[in-house]
Amino acid sequence: MSKLVNLLAPDTENDSFTALKKAVTMNSTDIIEEVKKAQVLGRGGAAFPAGIKWEYMARIVKSAPPDTPKYIVCNADEGEPGTFKDKFIMENLPLKLIEGITIAGFTLGAKAGYIYVRGEYRKIQKRLLAAIQDTHKQGFLGKNILGLGFDFDIHIISGAGAYVCGENSALLNSTEGKVGRPRIKPPRLAEVGLFLKPTLVNNVETFANIPLVINGCPDAGGSKLICLSGHCRNKGVFEIPLGKLTLRDIIYDPQLGGGIAGDKQLKFFHLGGQSGSIGCADQLDTIYSYADLTKAGLSVGSGAVVVMDESVSILEYLTSVAEFFIHESCGKCVPCREGNFQVLKILQKLAAKGASLNDLDTLRRLASTMTTASFCGLGQTAASALTSAWKHFKTEIEGAI
Ligand SMILES: Cc1cc2nc3c(=O)[nH]c(=O)nc-3n(C[C@H](O)[C@H](O)[C@H](O)COP(=O)(O)O)c2cc1C
Ligand code: SF4
Repeated sequence: MSKLVNLLAPDTENDSFTALKKAVTMNSTDIIEEVKKAQVLGRGGAAFPAGIKWEYMARIVKSAPPDTPKYIVCNADEGEPGTFKDKFIMENLPLKLIEGITIAGFTLGAKAGYIYVRGEYRKIQKRLLAAIQDTHKQGFLGKNILGLGFDFDIHIISGAGAYVCGENSALLNSTEGKVGRPRIKPPRLAEVGLFLKPTLVNNVETFANIPLVINGCPDAGGSKLICLSGHCRNKGVFEIPLGKLTLRDIIYDPQLGGGIAGDKQLKFFHLGGQSGSIGCADQLDTIYSYADLTKAGLSVGSGAVVVMDESVSILEYLTSVAEFFIHESCGKCVPCREGNFQVLKILQKLAAKGASLNDLDTLRRLASTMTTASFCGLGQTAASALTSAWKHFKTEIEGAI
């Protein structure tokens, strides 16, 4: 399997911080230009171009008084079920991540960076702390980095296991010690972020790509870590070139998913986490790229590829998705707090063959209201699995009526 940029190369090849050494010889505009050219799209799920985000933050920083504190925040909450690529990076490539965050700090004139790590990743938090201490010893973090008068440090913040804290503004509230609920936007976090100061928030994988970009890898934006799980033979984190493989390659290639375990048939796949869309066998020839998946009503999202075989009931699966969102809804807004409960009730009625046509109509309206009227991305995407599955499995879903 071809690997475009080899993001997964062991850290030992990178531990001399060659990209940081190069970055400090460049000016901010040139660094940002490189990130834009590499077309790195944010790997946390929303796929916002990293270069554009950095450029916007640089503009805010420029217009602020010079002594304004600025912050770099790495989103390592990784709460999306079926997603474990950030865990892989933090366990195996912590120096690449530290280097990427430090380059962002240098570019945007920040003195402090935070990695917000999900609470369940206790061992990884220790691993990161040890890597930060080593980096200090090597002189690439702390005071007067590389003798250039550039001070930068990275702190670890532990989450407490709430999925909504992966939403970037809720993450900042949680980092400040407040309740982890989303903020109203605008203002953007680049303007009013952590402690109300200009803040850049990027995902772990996004930052880990930055050293590759600065080291001159033209295709850094074209490599993606995916997480295969469920009923495929091979499970784990794989690096793939975006735009070159189909979903069929990903699920069936012996070097990737290896096909369906137990020689069963594929029933569906769920891409991008619980907030992503469900696809079926008819869509296996879709190319795995941001644009192609979007065209097909699917998405890269968090990089999760959950494969389900023919034994799985779609209603049971959707019920578990609804239960997840009920558990994780922060309760701030009605469409999400109440909507997920009502969705679950109707799904349970359908599974018990006790639903009516009216219930189906209500289900449709609930999905639409949650998507359009919820306050944050959690509620806005909570019905994605339901609406996409409904298209593919109409007979199974409506069969009980
Ligand atoms: C409910 C919810 C949960 C999220 N969880 C995560 C997460 O665990 N990790 C992450 O990087 N982004 C997560 N995001 C996306 C972030 O809000 C944000 O887009 C991301 O951190 C930006 O980084 P990127 O541009 O590098 O992707 C979540 C968004 C929502 C709405
Ligand atoms: S959509 Fe509303 S209730 Fe749901 S997590 Fe976001 S703010 Fe909280």
